[in-house]
Amino acid sequence: MKRYRIICLLVYSIVQFQLNPVQAQGLQSGEEQLYRPRIHFSPASHWINDPNGMVYYAGVYHMFFQYHPFSSVWGPMHWGHATSTDMMHWQEQPIALYPDSLGMIFSGSAVLDKQNSSGFGINGRPPLVAIFTHHNDKMESGRNDFQYQSLAFSTDSGKSWKKYAGNPVLKNPGITDFRDPKVILFAPQHKWVMTLATKDCITFYSSPDLRNWKRESDFGKTLGSHGGVWECPDLVPLNDNGKKVWMLIVNVNPGGPNGGSATQYFLGDFNGHEFVTQQTATKWLDFGPDEYAGVTWSNTGNRVLFLGWMSNWLYANQLPTMAWRNAMTLPRALKLVHSGDNVFVSSLPVVEMNAIQTKPVLLSANETQGTVDFSDKIGKMELPCRINIETWEAKDFAIRLANMQGEELVVGYNKQQNNFFIDRSHSGKVDFYKDFGAVYHAPRFRNSQSIKLTLVVDVGSIELFADDGLTVMTSVFFPNEAFSQLKFAAKDSVGINKLEYVKMKSTLK
Ligand code: FRU
Repeated sequence: MKRYRIICLLVYSIVQFQLNPVQAQGLQSGEEQLYRPRIHFSPASHWINDPNGMVYYAGVYHMFFQYHPFSSVWGPMHWGHATSTDMMHWQEQPIALYPDSLGMIFSGSAVLDKQNSSGFGINGRPPLVAIFTHHNDKMESGRNDFQYQSLAFSTDSGKSWKKYAGNPVLKNPGITDFRDPKVILFAPQHKWVMTLATKDCITFYSSPDLRNWKRESDFGKTLGSHGGVWECPDLVPLNDNGKKVWMLIVNVNPGGPNGGSATQYFLGDFNGHEFVTQQTATKWLDFGPDEYAGVTWSNTGNRVLFLGWMSNWLYANQLPTMAWRNAMTLPRALKLVHSGDNVFVSSLPVVEMNAIQTKPVLLSANETQGTVDFSDKIGKMELPCRINIETWEAKDFAIRLANMQGEELVVGYNKQQNNFFIDRSHSGKVDFYKDFGAVYHAPRFRNSQSIKLTLVVDVGSIELFADDGLTVMTSVFFPNEAFSQLKFAAKDSVGINKLEYVKMKSTLK
């Protein structure tokens, strides 16, 4: 292990010295941080993908993540680590898990083992236990059992982590894609349940002690989206007016509603052995192109808190950022919602976001028609910001975020299609990937005339929450100059109850 770290450090120094993208491209200092989000987690440098091991303990939200500490493209995966007390201000911590002789450290989860069922606790202090996939790239050619599940634990509140000497704890029965364990405590049967992505379905396992696992059942071979491999699942109990409904999250890549990777979910029942659903339609937690691998935090009581990777495998490695690459979405609170005859899971930014908002500026509360520029009311639009819109009729409208170079991001509602859209076709740099500059659509589910939209805009991303979170879309963008104009556009007049601009305070340290 020591030798591995020394070699890594050496390679790192050489790569930094020779290939530092900032120096290599003659960039000015500061440009390497171009597009770095102000209110979303991103690493100070290098590559990240999936959030991992999200667990709340002793007042601290832990977020681990797929991390390549030597490059800004995907490579040997480590678990990076960041902590926060409010999910908005993040502090990067030392790397938690390094690759070892069993392989790279792929995605997984973490739990607080309150009863010390694993025996990893010391002096009466319960351990945090991480359950993750070891991906053995040396075995990859010619074999199909190169992914298996392993454990690591922390007895100092998540500061340092030790791998379990008995790894792996769940061997591979011969399935090429056998990964991303999400573990929960299934209290009624006093056992742990692991939800594992196994190629084109989910396999549930159970264990009394996190070390010994028994296969329970498979789910989903013929249900939901199968445009690609199933990854990063999660099994979450939700409250339906006092009744328990289980949500099974399954990330799929590709196969998303707007192409590439995305997060679908199933609602049903889980009895400790099997997940059963009556659901026939595919449901998506986020319809935009840029939310993936989203899962929930463990140990948060009645709150269901979700966060995803704000990118898409179609182009994640090519994004036009320099020293760092890829960020996470806002943390979101999930709830079960009935709408007409349908049941959905809604997502809204966590209430902790309110603390970084400044005083809302009312831009309009009237019939509005044509293109209205609000520069007179707010001067230059500053990012990050939140835009709240509430109409009293369902008619076509759009919000246009623009810069002096004529680049713009257009977001709105189309009555005829009854959908929401994000148009990033003229949003700046788009040609690093052939289909990046496109228009993305998401259905509207609520029947009311009044439309409610919340847009959270960071320097290079937008998250759209429509109808109290029934339809959600996330998209990244890369303008050549920051967007500084905020316009409302409608062909016919639209009745507006409220159009508000709320500047947000940066949480970037
Ligand atoms: C999802 C994923 C996981 C895997 C990890 C590797 O984005 O492919 O299935 O564990 O990324 O970095």
